[in-house]
Amino acid sequence: MTLVSIEMHGDIAVLRADNPPVNALGHPLRAALAKAFAGLKGVRGAVLTCAGRSFFAGADIREFDAAPQPPAIFELAAQIEALPFPVVAAIHGAALGGGLELALGCAGRVAAPSAVLGFPEVTLGLIPGSGGVVRSARLLAPGEAARLLTTGERIPADEALRLGLIDAVAQDPVTAALARVAELAEAPRPPLSARPLPPAPESWEPARKAALRAARGAEAPGVALDVLIHAWEVDFETARAAERAAFERLRGTEQSAALRHVFFAERRAAKAAKAEGGPDIARPGVLGGGTMGAGIAAALLVAGFPVTLAEASPEAAARARTRLEGLIAAAGARGKVDPAAALARLTVGQGAEALGGCDLVIEAVFEDLGVKRAAFAALEAACAPDALLVTNTSYLDPRGIAEGLRHPERFAGLHFFSPAQVMKLVEVVPVPQTAPGTEAALWRLIGRLGKTGVRSGICDGFIGNRILKRYRAAAEALVIAGAGVADVDAAMRGFGFAMGPFEAQDMGGLDIAHARRQAARAAGAQVPRCLGDLLAEAGRTGQKAGGGWYDYPEGSRRPEPSPEAARLLAPMRAMGGAVPAPAEIAARLVGEMAAEGRAILEEGIAATPEDIDLVEILGYGFPRWRGGPMFATRSGAPALARAG
Ligand code: NAI
Repeated sequence: MTLVSIEMHGDIAVLRADNPPVNALGHPLRAALAKAFAGLKGVRGAVLTCAGRSFFAGADIREFDAAPQPPAIFELAAQIEALPFPVVAAIHGAALGGGLELALGCAGRVAAPSAVLGFPEVTLGLIPGSGGVVRSARLLAPGEAARLLTTGERIPADEALRLGLIDAVAQDPVTAALARVAELAEAPRPPLSARPLPPAPESWEPARKAALRAARGAEAPGVALDVLIHAWEVDFETARAAERAAFERLRGTEQSAALRHVFFAERRAAKAAKAEGGPDIARPGVLGGGTMGAGIAAALLVAGFPVTLAEASPEAAARARTRLEGLIAAAGARGKVDPAAALARLTVGQGAEALGGCDLVIEAVFEDLGVKRAAFAALEAACAPDALLVTNTSYLDPRGIAEGLRHPERFAGLHFFSPAQVMKLVEVVPVPQTAPGTEAALWRLIGRLGKTGVRSGICDGFIGNRILKRYRAAAEALVIAGAGVADVDAAMRGFGFAMGPFEAQDMGGLDIAHARRQAARAAGAQVPRCLGDLLAEAGRTGQKAGGGWYDYPEGSRRPEPSPEAARLLAPMRAMGGAVPAPAEIAARLVGEMAAEGRAILEEGIAATPEDIDLVEILGYGFPRWRGGPMFATRSGAPALARAG
């Protein structure tokens, strides 16, 4: 296969790289590019473009585990800059990471309207190491450079044009790039490495604060900013060498290893969304328009589906519509959807009959086996025999729901997370009768929703909620032994969670878990009394009740230590016990999560440790840069107390 072909357009050469699927800049391609550029003689200029669906979408991440083989991307960029004629990058698809760095070595850049550009390195625990930071410093406004480099955000072509990252947006970037080469051949401009820096901002503090806040313990964003600031303090070559050294150091960190682990786990999950067989869903419906049903319907609308939502009564239907309109307006405000167009695709009705025309119905009615069975009987009567019918149950055994079905082969559990229009995770829970085609159709649906699916076997709470239960019990055990509620929450925030286990419970409400424990006890199960019971029984069910583990005076959302909660909990607590250090608290709780994860693996509930890590990161806020509980506690991992 020819990795790089050259085609002459008069005296301008068009270099076209072809390294499917996304022209990743692996070593053979880099070598071929270096050779192609070195061989260009007597031309007026060159266009650098790619065949297939994308410009260079980045470096080849598989090569990150070893020392890079020359030519490195930074050497290629320097080679392009040193050519005696202008080179213009013609970008379509994605120009990310090393691909964008290579484009910054070019004298100009033209992109198709649908192109996306960015420096996603920080999402892999890295920074651009091939001149991306130091050339951005000379091309962009400092604040914008800081934002792109520290967030890893991918921006569309029109924004890239506004920021000055590219020179033009064109339907046909190669043709536009040819014209740009001709312009630059007439009126050359110095390469980025030779351009002066724009004035530095008066203070980098706002940028640093924003970066550190968003990083939540991840190291790379702060390093990216340091390297950027350094560009104002030294000459280009010194700054570039410092950038490279920082990249090389980060490549060996535990954080980068963790983030690459998650990247590959997500990529494997994305492959599952390409499953073949079964129907292509075109007209989904949702039964039950409460918290979850409305969120799921919003996710479907945002993904472009026409959606029918059915509720139990006209009043409930009206409430569901209002709830959904609010969610769609919020999605509209974030630029995710055109609210008017999305709502035009929505039908709200009453009862299962309203869903008769759907080819998939996601059930999200009350968590009660009798209610759900009745709902599915009504759905089977209303819908075509080949329509898929799935349940969003959190804790009920889907096999129990399937028992009453005439066509259990088209049934499965599809467990979304709250808020369903935001959370990326979906657990796919087939029952023994679920047909392969049914499951395949669900995987593709998850892909179209832009979500990540993880297959779970059947157990109480599936993968995620089962680990959550163990995590919460372990957190309570620490408090019972003498640690403060706020100490435990602070330790987990310090570990990288957005919220500690008790704050999170206050936000979600303590009542549902309490009711579940009570029901289990009533059914004769041995469920020991716990601290959460003491609070729930006293009406302290969380933020919505003005208090739970913490107080929330006058509707505030800021947790404040609660003397009343302390008094209620006192009878079960050992006062004056030794309080473990924060790192020890985190290590203990993560260790418990991983222990439950191992049990889940042994029982075959999850297929791989990666799946468990994905569930925790995408569904429960486990810090991505820690790689998930299984990765963080794998054999050979650095001790958690010291990591980070
Ligand atoms: P919810 O109480 O907010 O909503 C349930 C809705 O179903 C209500 O609006 C009710 O009017 C409607 N409904 C009840 N019976 C119906 C029927 N026969 N036909 C049509 N509509 C009916 O409950 P939520 O939180 O939305 O939970 C729904 C399901 O999703 C439950 O199975 C729950 O376990 C599960 N789930 C909940 C999560 C959460 O965080 N709330 C997360 C993931 C799953």
